[in-house]
Amino acid sequence: MLDDAMKIGNIPLTIPFVQAALAGYTEYPMRKLSQRFGCPLTFTGVMLDRIALHPKAMRQPKFHPHDDEHPVAAQILGDEPRTLAEAAAVFERLGYDMIDLNFACPVPKVLRRQRGGFLMQKPAVVREALRQTRQAVSCPVAMKIRIGFDRSAAAEEDFGAICAAAAEEGVDMLAIHGRTVDQKYRGKADWSRIAEVKRRLPNLTVFGSGDIFSADTAFERLTQTGIDGVVVARGAIGNPWIFSELRARWQGQADVPEPSLAEQGQVMLEHFEMLTQSRAGTQAVSFFRKFVPGYAKRHPERKKVMLALLAARSPEQLYAIIRAYYGV
Ligand SMILES: Cc1cc2nc3c(=O)[nH]c(=O)nc-3n(C[C@H](O)[C@H](O)[C@H](O)COP(=O)(O)O)c2cc1C
Repeated sequence: MLDDAMKIGNIPLTIPFVQAALAGYTEYPMRKLSQRFGCPLTFTGVMLDRIALHPKAMRQPKFHPHDDEHPVAAQILGDEPRTLAEAAAVFERLGYDMIDLNFACPVPKVLRRQRGGFLMQKPAVVREALRQTRQAVSCPVAMKIRIGFDRSAAAEEDFGAICAAAAEEGVDMLAIHGRTVDQKYRGKADWSRIAEVKRRLPNLTVFGSGDIFSADTAFERLTQTGIDGVVVARGAIGNPWIFSELRARWQGQADVPEPSLAEQGQVMLEHFEMLTQSRAGTQAVSFFRKFVPGYAKRHPERKKVMLALLAARSPEQLYAIIRAYYGV
């Protein structure tokens, strides 16, 4: 349960909305922009625990948090409690403020290797992973789960056992994506199941995830379910303003002004420039494409701008298109 001062462990939350772990998206540039616009806590994309046990691999800058982005949580994935706990200790030493254990990933390769969402079927392993990780680190420990492996009675029972283990072992934050593992991203997230966990285990800090594409929806889910907070995932891609909207709403402001086109353009330029610090220009251009639909959504000529940005083949072309459409 979040206390009155809204803290997860020692991490203060100015608003009960955080930026999700999104593999392939939540590198430093997206995390930094989310934070700039008021997000109080961000997560890395999921990282395999075993990589942390190779000191040479861990020297790569992509595994390190930046000095100016705290607090940031490292999310890890594995199949075995001891390795997860050892990896957690490594990431804590690297400077991450929180460890998040992933028991939610539905990717077939991950499930075949008995990691991520596969472990929704193994409550004893989840409990042991949480226990050992808590012993291995002094920072807060979170868990990301789904509402079950599938819709079977056995999965229902495992889900209940995992939530109980999270409460008994003292997890600092339980983030629940309201879909089953089996469901992947199909259908709608079932927030009633998330609300039920909070009702049953009121002392647990429960965050919900699923289908949050606007500040209004995030707010509605928070107030309707009685949970502690909401995780913003796809809705934050190319849309860091969702956090300034949430912050304004949280402070009681009814109407939040749209960012001007010039501000949107500036943020896109800055996002792209940050991407070029860790990859070659043309690679940064293709990586940036993943954020284009999100950014273009706010432009009055959405489709035209999106197609133009997606057609850019070099940094120079991308800069020229942003300047032309956003007046920066
Ligand atoms: C492309 C993509 C990558 C994701 N990567 C992760 C991840 O690394 N770790 C994680 O816990 N969840 C991951 N998720 C799940 C999201 O964090 C979130 O729980 C899910 O998308 C539901 O929220 P939404 O419908 O609001 O996007 C990913 C989702 C997407 C679409």
